Amino acid sequence: MSQSQHFESPHPRAATLFLMVGLPGAGKTTRARELATTHRALRLTPDHWMNPLFGDSMADGKRWVLEGRLISVALQALRLGSSVVLDFGLWSRDERSALRWLARTTGAACQVVYLPVDKHVQLARIAHRQETTPHRTFPMSEADLDAWRERFEVPDAAELDGGEIPAPPAGRPGWLEWAVDTWPTCTDG
Ligand SMILES: Nc1ncnc2c1ncn2[C@@H]1O[C@H](COP(=O)(O)OP(=O)(O)OP(=O)(O)O)[C@@H](O)[C@H]1O
Ligand SMILES: [Mg+2]
Repeated sequence: MSQSQHFESPHPRAATLFLMVGLPGAGKTTRARELATTHRALRLTPDHWMNPLFGDSMADGKRWVLEGRLISVALQALRLGSSVVLDFGLWSRDERSALRWLARTTGAACQVVYLPVDKHVQLARIAHRQETTPHRTFPMSEADLDAWRERFEVPDAAELDGGEIPAPPAGRPGWLEWAVDTWPTCTDG
């Protein structure tokens, strides 16, 4: 066996990008940890970066900057054959479509993981988290929850089954341009 053969991986791994989708308290990070363990995947949870860096999970638009950088890291890892769990929440279908499209450019599979949550369960979990780990969260009122439920776009069957990726919004040339507009830091160019 030659030296180069010795270092070759016998079976190239099929990488998967897991997209965690759900409202606050739905259980995304809990499931993301499980998926990361099961699939030996890299887990990227923006809250775990935003809070230590800025003491706030939104911080004047810096979340988009950070998410863009994490997307860039995710795409690099997928190209290297590692699976990735993107623990972003992803309330909009367009965000999910753009990320599904980006995953495909790396040759990776993509799986939308939706965590539905009943409003009363969500309220109870948020209250419990506020009581036990206030440093890891921020106050959320019932009115906040109602408004967020209105805005949240529940993934449809095609998204959940890995069906065809919808066309980008009218007037937009492609998902790459849409992604760069939304997360200007998602490319290294
Ligand atoms: N399947 C479950 N059954 C019971 N409790 C759960 C379950 N999943 C998560 N929890 C609890 O609910 C709370 C919220 O879970 P988690 O932090 O995973 O939600 P999240 O969707 O990541 O929320 P956020 O969007 O605010 O980060 C935690 O206290 C967690 O322990
Ligand atoms: Mg979370």
